Amino acid sequence: MGVRFRGWGIALPDRIVTNDELSKTLDTSDEWITERTGIRERRIGGSAMSLGVVAGHQALEDAGFAAADIDFLVVATTTPDRLCPATAPMIAHEMGLDCPAMDVNAACSGFMFAVRTAQGLLETGNRRILVIGSEHLSRWVDWSDRNMAVLLGDGAGAAVLEYDPDGTDVLSFCLGADGSAADLLTCEHGGYFDMNGKEIFRRAVRVVVDSAEQALKGAGITADELSLVVPHQANIRIIQAALQRLGVGMDRAVITLDRYGNTSSSSIPLAYYDARENGRVRPGEYALLTGFGAGMTWASAIVRWS
Ligand code: ACO
Repeated sequence: MGVRFRGWGIALPDRIVTNDELSKTLDTSDEWITERTGIRERRIGGSAMSLGVVAGHQALEDAGFAAADIDFLVVATTTPDRLCPATAPMIAHEMGLDCPAMDVNAACSGFMFAVRTAQGLLETGNRRILVIGSEHLSRWVDWSDRNMAVLLGDGAGAAVLEYDPDGTDVLSFCLGADGSAADLLTCEHGGYFDMNGKEIFRRAVRVVVDSAEQALKGAGITADELSLVVPHQANIRIIQAALQRLGVGMDRAVITLDRYGNTSSSSIPLAYYDARENGRVRPGEYALLTGFGAGMTWASAIVRWS
């Protein structure tokens, strides 16, 4: 029994905010941001619901499915439009879905946790599940804080998963969480994102490498066999350090952070979509999808595209 990815969609706000624009109001520069993070610009705008609806519609259309075909909606978001209700029922309503809908919050690993949740739901009788990562991070950014403001962007990505009794695209998963690191990256009620960037960086490299190695082992393949790595897009130096330790060249990594910044739960589907648009997703080839985030949480999966 298995899971197939049937369709994908994305949503990005129109408004582009460049490093130069941020440098007008913050004590920073395009040179610093580009060198230290790889980010050149980000998209700002929309809401978790509005971006999620656009990405969700696109994924359904891409899969050739109608709203009535979907049995369950799982939305990964760190930035729900309201504390209550969850964003998923509102997206379901806007999209005309008639099915259960719930949010998952695992920060930047959220999309992978949502796919894992969907996999479990498929095993218990659901047949088609829409998974959306949607983030309105800019709402929770203190735009006078150069530590956070340069990193984050808004956007959404979605995938339709379908049950297949005969095979699977998802070969292995390795998820984890370590709440002892909770204070490293926080957003208190009524507050803004705040983090210990250096420590997050150090731990991120470690958890990405460890979870990727476990996922590779679970799938019974080596890093040499990977055609593609679709990493969470937080910082180009984190991706470089992790891939170097895994012995995988950067030519196999998908990079979108230069254009979108860190979009948390949305970054992996946005990066996957970018790879597909550029002809880098080929049937039968192996890909590593890997992320980490506040919590701390982490998630790696080996996927073979059908
Ligand atoms: N522009 C200019 N200078 C800056 C900026 C900025 N935007 N931000 C920080 N600095 C300064 C610091 O104040 C510091 O100055 P000091 O030496 O006088 O104190 C100096 O630059 C160096 O700062 P570091 O923290 O050492 O810089 P570092 O190379 O570690 O880069 C960064 C900082 C980019 C935050 C990096 O640590 C990082 O990417 N960490 C991981 C972030 C992450 O992945 N977060 C998780 C996702 S966010 C989420 O989940 C919502």
